[in-house]
Amino acid sequence: MTTERLPTVGPDRPPAPAPMPPAGPAPGRPAALSADPPPGAVAPGGGAEVLARLDAVSRSFPGATEVLALRDVDLTIYQGDYLSIQGPSGSGKSTMLNVLGLLDRPTVGRYELDGVETGPLRDRDRTRLRARALGFVFQGFHLLPRRTVFENVLLGMAYSGVARGQRRWRAARALERVSMTHRTGFYPTTLSGGERQRVAIARAIAGEPALLLADEPTGNLDAATSGEVLDVLAELNRAGLTIAVVTHDPDVSRAARRRFAMRDGRLREEA
Ligand SMILES: Nc1ncnc2c1ncn2[C@@H]1O[C@H](COP(=O)(O)OP(=O)(O)OP(=O)(O)O)[C@@H](O)[C@H]1O
Ligand SMILES: [Mg+2]
Repeated sequence: MTTERLPTVGPDRPPAPAPMPPAGPAPGRPAALSADPPPGAVAPGGGAEVLARLDAVSRSFPGATEVLALRDVDLTIYQGDYLSIQGPSGSGKSTMLNVLGLLDRPTVGRYELDGVETGPLRDRDRTRLRARALGFVFQGFHLLPRRTVFENVLLGMAYSGVARGQRRWRAARALERVSMTHRTGFYPTTLSGGERQRVAIARAIAGEPALLLADEPTGNLDAATSGEVLDVLAELNRAGLTIAVVTHDPDVSRAARRRFAMRDGRLREEA
């Protein structure tokens, strides 16, 4: 089920098929029911391909006062989805993304990613699955300051399973997809915030992850630059990339095709 990845060009694989036409109302459609797969999520066989599924997931942090950061969360992410999870500070968004990103484990419940039941996985196998299947974008970019743009994107593939011989080509392609080919030799400190985030997105997608996870991707950007980054995400999604964004920003939330609200650890899909 991982064959429908980012469309790519070049010698290592045949041209990707054209993106599937939307199965439902166009992007921006008013309501996406949880049982209703998003446009682009229709597999060749006609059924929606499930990419990730949280089943009754809770995450608590023990302490003097135990914090229930996630409460009984059910979520199905389909291939081709672009979903947002919006909520106030402390509502559990980052905890949610950490669980989805295999950076944290549920205290209770199941998490299946890319056909793999993650609960029983040993650390090494979790790390491997994370590197192969997931891409991350954070508010603070996390680019290496002493490496060029191109090197940053290359290094993002270090553990991705992408063959060495393909990495340079993949990095170039990823930078092209975020319109940053004119800055490949620059150092991150010389770039604007929006440019840095586009490089971080290129790094995250160069290994062709099944799922791109973003935590407040526009949190350090002004409104105009945020719009550019959201345009990049929308374009990547149109080309088939599955994206999940967590944010407190209603504008960022609205850019997604399926919208969820997080309140006090509980997740609810918005109509
Ligand atoms: N490692 C931890 N130990 C104890 N409590 C934690 C830990 N991580 C998160 N929490 C608690 O879990 C709750 C949810 O935190 P989380 O970081 O997921 O919120 P958030 O929605 O991402 O907030 P923000 O918008 O401020 O980033 C908070 O009450 C937080 O204090
Ligand atoms: Mg957070």
